[in-house]
Amino acid sequence: MTMIFATLLTIITAVSAIDCSAKELKPYNFESIKGVHSYSNLRNTPPSTTNLTWNVGICEPINNVKDCPPNSDICGITTIQLKDEKPVISEIITFNANLEKTYETSDNGVKILYKGANWGDALINAELNFVCDKDASENDFTLDQWDGTNLKLSLKNKAACITSDDDKKKEEKKKPDSGESWGWFTWIFIFLVLFLSIYIVGGAWFQYNKGNAIDFQSALKEVIENFIELLKGLPSFSKEIIEKFTGRSNRGEYSAV
Ligand SMILES: *[C@@H]1O[C@H](CO)[C@@H](O)[C@H](O)[C@H]1NC(C)=O
Repeated sequence: MTMIFATLLTIITAVSAIDCSAKELKPYNFESIKGVHSYSNLRNTPPSTTNLTWNVGICEPINNVKDCPPNSDICGITTIQLKDEKPVISEIITFNANLEKTYETSDNGVKILYKGANWGDALINAELNFVCDKDASENDFTLDQWDGTNLKLSLKNKAACITSDDDKKKEEKKKPDSGESWGWFTWIFIFLVLFLSIYIVGGAWFQYNKGNAIDFQSALKEVIENFIELLKGLPSFSKEIIEKFTGRSNRGEYSAV
């Protein structure tokens, strides 16, 4: 079965951004490299310096990169800077997300091909080469070619390896900032605030109903004051507990005997 897979090269065309949920990309794990990845290079081009930066939006179009037109799949920016002067943008090259593209998928990775984007008087092509390498997790592209007509960028990453759904799940768990831990914090915080409000308002209401306070407002004030007293007492209380556990106060007892 895998033999067949290895020799089978699927070629499908699609119109829309590089889309994680595209069925061509389903066997891979592009979700793990979702976002804008780039290649950047600074050259000495006397009397100026030239910065060429290519941005590629994976699984989402580029929308928030400075000077890049919104809804691009690929966006190249060239800036030139003369000594002590502000950089000037000399070239902006884009492959719009709506441009037709071709996916070539194989065991070794995925190639995405763009043909005929307009740039000035020229029609330009691009080839994004995602290379499967189980040990690599490069985040930045390498520039293989740019001659003013043909662009070739490549990225070595295990995201371009055929991945089972189980492995994808494991991958997601490994990601340090996958929303999960944040979710935890947020929930605990929300519950704390919720319980605190119930405690204070409920306590005040109770005091007021019992007739211990003239009006609800002063009952509320009283409960809050009590609560603050409680908080003030907390440090010495926890200190006591910690001393119990670390046995510091025990030693004290022994020496007293
Ligand atoms: C080139 O410009 C980009 C975008 O402004 C910037 O992020 C990058 O650091 C620059 N590269 C170098 C090598 O200065």
